[in-house]
Amino acid sequence: MAQPNFTSGTVWTGDNLRMLRGMNSECVDLIYLDPPFNSNRVYEAPIGSKAAGAAFKDAWTLDDVDVHEHGELADRNPAAYSVIEAARQAHGKGMQSYLIFMAVRFLEMRRILKPTGSIHLHCDPTASHYLKLLMDAVFGRAAFRNEIVWCYRKWSTEAGQFAKNHDVILFYAAGDGGDPTFNVQFVATSKGTMKRWKGKRQQAVVVDGARQATATGEDARSPMSDWWEISIINPNAKERTGYPTQKPLALLDRIVRASSNPGDLILDPFCGCATTLVAADRLQRRWAGIDLSPLAVKLVDERIAADRGDMPWGGANALTDPPKRTDLGELPNYRTHRHRLYGEQEGVCASCGTHFPFRVMDVDHILPISRGGTDHPDNLQLLCSGCNRSKGGRTMAEWRAAQGAD
Ligand SMILES: C[S@@+](CC[C@H](N)C(=O)[O-])C[C@H]1O[C@@H](n2cnc3c(N)ncnc32)[C@H](O)[C@@H]1O
Repeated sequence: MAQPNFTSGTVWTGDNLRMLRGMNSECVDLIYLDPPFNSNRVYEAPIGSKAAGAAFKDAWTLDDVDVHEHGELADRNPAAYSVIEAARQAHGKGMQSYLIFMAVRFLEMRRILKPTGSIHLHCDPTASHYLKLLMDAVFGRAAFRNEIVWCYRKWSTEAGQFAKNHDVILFYAAGDGGDPTFNVQFVATSKGTMKRWKGKRQQAVVVDGARQATATGEDARSPMSDWWEISIINPNAKERTGYPTQKPLALLDRIVRASSNPGDLILDPFCGCATTLVAADRLQRRWAGIDLSPLAVKLVDERIAADRGDMPWGGANALTDPPKRTDLGELPNYRTHRHRLYGEQEGVCASCGTHFPFRVMDVDHILPISRGGTDHPDNLQLLCSGCNRSKGGRTMAEWRAAQGAD
């Protein structure tokens, strides 16, 4: 497993895909993400709140995503590509665009998770069923652990349907054979329900290995289920920043406790007003966050400073450039792969499919270095000089799409 190539306490401002692509493989213990939900809304923080100025759009069209990445998915994960195609047919192009955006990021998240790591995706029924299929395609269906239902009361009703009072958190291991950290959490059960829970309580003792006082039953507890009742943040709550879609600390506290241990590294690639980072900091975990909004850095600093009180806090390591991977070893100059590639491709250009003599073949980066690609052999191919010149600094998928459009 690689060491992380960034320090704990880092918050990047910018698109998380660039940052994720620059992170070392297998270096993160837990990813929690609360991305836009495809809600077809624009969120803004109220004027005068700590988060005033924060806004993000959650409505999707094909113009919002790099459609070329759709083509790349066809190469890198055909199952994800098929799920997205099915979503386009069943739901439309908005869902298709949203899922392309999510899929390319999932591929990087899977790469950077340790084999003992896990991912918790926060979403709601607007897209949760499509996202479940996509996560099965990327992380593997055997990696699925729970669909956690977060219930709250909002008193909002729409005519002709039940009130929508829950979100969904999809919890997956890092991959099919993954063995993620999991600390059983407990809920206290009252005296009255003692009898009913007795069997489960004994099971909990076995799982946890802890002894519990059972004489009075007042401290009886049972393992937590996948159905969590936690209030949304009320308008006067101390933790409220005004950031649109801010999640309660109690929710993140539970996820961090269950799926990590002190010292573990937690990443929130859509960190918003830093709720995950504050919860991680309180529980002595290492942490890092990414958000498009520059307000994230300000809110992390304010919230963690307030939280730590007199304890020293030097502020987040605020960055805008992606990290540079250090886990690929000393890669030889990419041109040294020319002979090997010529043999593997049997002298045929990877694009036009024509056979050429060795001297007119060039080594090309499938994903250009400027877009987060590396000199790793998996990212190299041989193109004839004509195709290589025509492709220029584009990804293969972009170039193919441009050719299709001509
Ligand atoms: C639902 S909010 C997260 C709220 C957060 N969980 C909290 O408690 O504050 C989603 C966040 O994703 C950010 N975002 C959207 N697209 C992004 C991208 N491509 N890269 C990084 N952040 C992004 C938005 O700026 C917004 O802050």
